[in-house]
Amino acid sequence: MLVLGIETSCDETGVAFYHGSRGLLGHALYSQVRLHAPYGGVVPELASRDHVRRVLPLARGLLDEGGCTLKDVSAVAYTEGPGLAGALLVGAAVAHGLGYALGIPALGVHHMEAHLLSPLLSEPAPRFPFIALLVSGGHTQLVRVGGVGRYELLGETVDDAAGEAFDKTAKLLGLGYPGGPALARLAEQGHAGKFRLPRPMIASGDLNFSFSGLKTAALTAIRERALDRSARADLAAEIEAAIVEVLAAKALAALEETGLNQLVVAGGVGANQSLRSRLARAAPERGYAVFYPKLEFCTDNGAMIALAGALRLERDSGLGARDSWKTGFTVRPRWDLETLAPQSV
Ligand code: KG4
Ligand code: ZN
Repeated sequence: MLVLGIETSCDETGVAFYHGSRGLLGHALYSQVRLHAPYGGVVPELASRDHVRRVLPLARGLLDEGGCTLKDVSAVAYTEGPGLAGALLVGAAVAHGLGYALGIPALGVHHMEAHLLSPLLSEPAPRFPFIALLVSGGHTQLVRVGGVGRYELLGETVDDAAGEAFDKTAKLLGLGYPGGPALARLAEQGHAGKFRLPRPMIASGDLNFSFSGLKTAALTAIRERALDRSARADLAAEIEAAIVEVLAAKALAALEETGLNQLVVAGGVGANQSLRSRLARAAPERGYAVFYPKLEFCTDNGAMIALAGALRLERDSGLGARDSWKTGFTVRPRWDLETLAPQSV
């Protein structure tokens, strides 16, 4: 079984081929970062148009590289949601068009399910059940993962996502888009503790998060006095420390509460080195193992979509396959992870 995966939910066009027994055969990514940078954030209409330009040539190039033809493909998996509606529609239209032309299923995949399964692309892979900390630009969630499609939401942000907190505070510091990596780079030159920011909800006793207050606290610190380069680096370090400490504390609390001992960290913020080193220090001494996707699969990519599609098709043949030329198709810009159907086996 060879699955073509297509990701177009936001500002990265990703395609990949995943083989049921041989694993990931190849993947390609086109990032729109330069397109959106002058606007300081993603412009949805520009994102959709650029996906239209990129997705087919990207898939074509991958086929040529891998020596495969479209005839070898047995299903097309695409991101059905959540994400930007117009951007999602591009991937969905291409997937259903190819599915119809080739007479194969087009399978809609939940973007966050793909993120939380993405560590299964590498060895050593976690085994079910595990806890997933999903930290991206739009989500911050702790999920108990019992198997493919078996997701129990343990906690989530009540306002901004962790990635959003990185992006918004980076903007306040005059850093470019995307803010997360830029803020993390500046933080390396500073020292946490010179400024004092709150660790929101760290002692709330539940597994929820809140990051919007951090942005306000950072703004107050910026307005209080003119910050030179080194003070800006210190503030960046404090912002990063505040976000990372809360994420790590709640993830460890989720492991303790559920009695599970494997943690998967997925989504763009999972690329953050400070979060990784904090968990690397704290987890082993409590007997926990932490798993990450490869760095290139932390942020949005086609490989995780192809994998999620393949995992569902493996045991649930045809799940989501539709006669879309008769029924039409839709995308789900908002889509609750817990509503996904478990795999039937
Ligand atoms: O998963 P992702 O690529 O897209 C969404 O589904 O949202 O995550 C993007 C988010 C952005 O907010 C970005 O600033 C953040 O992940 N991010 C980081 C780092 N790399 C990406 N945040 C902190 N440190 C990083 N190294
Ligand atoms: Zn994502």
